[in-house]
Amino acid sequence: MPRDRRDYFYRKAKKEGYRSRAAFKLKQINEKFNLIRKGDTVVDLGAAPGGWLQVALELSGGTVVGVDILPIGEIEGAETIKGDIRLDTTIEKIRAKIKKEGADVVICDAAPNLSGNWSYDHARSIDLATSALECARKILKPRGRFAVKVFQGDMFPGFINKVRQSFVKSQAFSPEASRKQSAEIYVIGKQLLPGIVKMNEEYTVVIEDIGASGDGIARISDFVVFVKGAKQGETVTIKIRDVKPNFAFGEIIV
Ligand SMILES: C[S@@+](CC[C@H](N)C(=O)[O-])C[C@H]1O[C@@H](n2cnc3c(N)ncnc32)[C@H](O)[C@@H]1O
Repeated sequence: MPRDRRDYFYRKAKKEGYRSRAAFKLKQINEKFNLIRKGDTVVDLGAAPGGWLQVALELSGGTVVGVDILPIGEIEGAETIKGDIRLDTTIEKIRAKIKKEGADVVICDAAPNLSGNWSYDHARSIDLATSALECARKILKPRGRFAVKVFQGDMFPGFINKVRQSFVKSQAFSPEASRKQSAEIYVIGKQLLPGIVKMNEEYTVVIEDIGASGDGIARISDFVVFVKGAKQGETVTIKIRDVKPNFAFGEIIV
């Protein structure tokens, strides 16, 4: 008998009418992080057979879109797309189904078909999770929220760093419904940052103005950067030290 058949969450899912045991992982993630809220537009990447879609619908009641390379059986109230989340053509199809302002939440439980070769499966999981992050950056509203599954391994720290660069808050979390022996972990990101300026990157800017706090104000593609100790009119090279959703702080290096 396969392990799933004996599994507590497998039986619970059957009993409560969920299409997968994974449904409880999303419930537990949501209890901890308040990711999906009433009225949210939610995009679920790697959504088949649809347990997460069912939970997302319960939590939001708004527009819920599921994407998978496999067909997803109809779920009343949810929109589905058959497509590969790594392709721009799929992202375009998602955009066509959500409001122009973008999605409030992107969730991704996608997993590669396991080969049994651990480092290969880990690398493919990181690749999928990175595609999900890129997709999230393209379709989320500013300050949007994100959750993605990854199989742990040596490329995990690099991946979580990428999430950290994109969100104000990020955290790894292992819900109780993930099997104890499983190496899967979920990475949560909250408050998507604009991609215009990045932490620790250098820019040469003109100080256009002085703000109320005395800091210089520069703009990079209309995004405000406060620069301590700068004088109006001067051109300086700065390094970005902190990024917030609506502005950043830079330090003069030259
Ligand atoms: C663990 S299942 C998701 C279960 C789902 N969260 C639920 O609760 O029913 C992982 C899914 O990821 C999908 N997947 C894997 N690679 C994908 C890709 N490149 N694009 C879209 N879906 C993908 C698989 O087809 C599979 O259905």
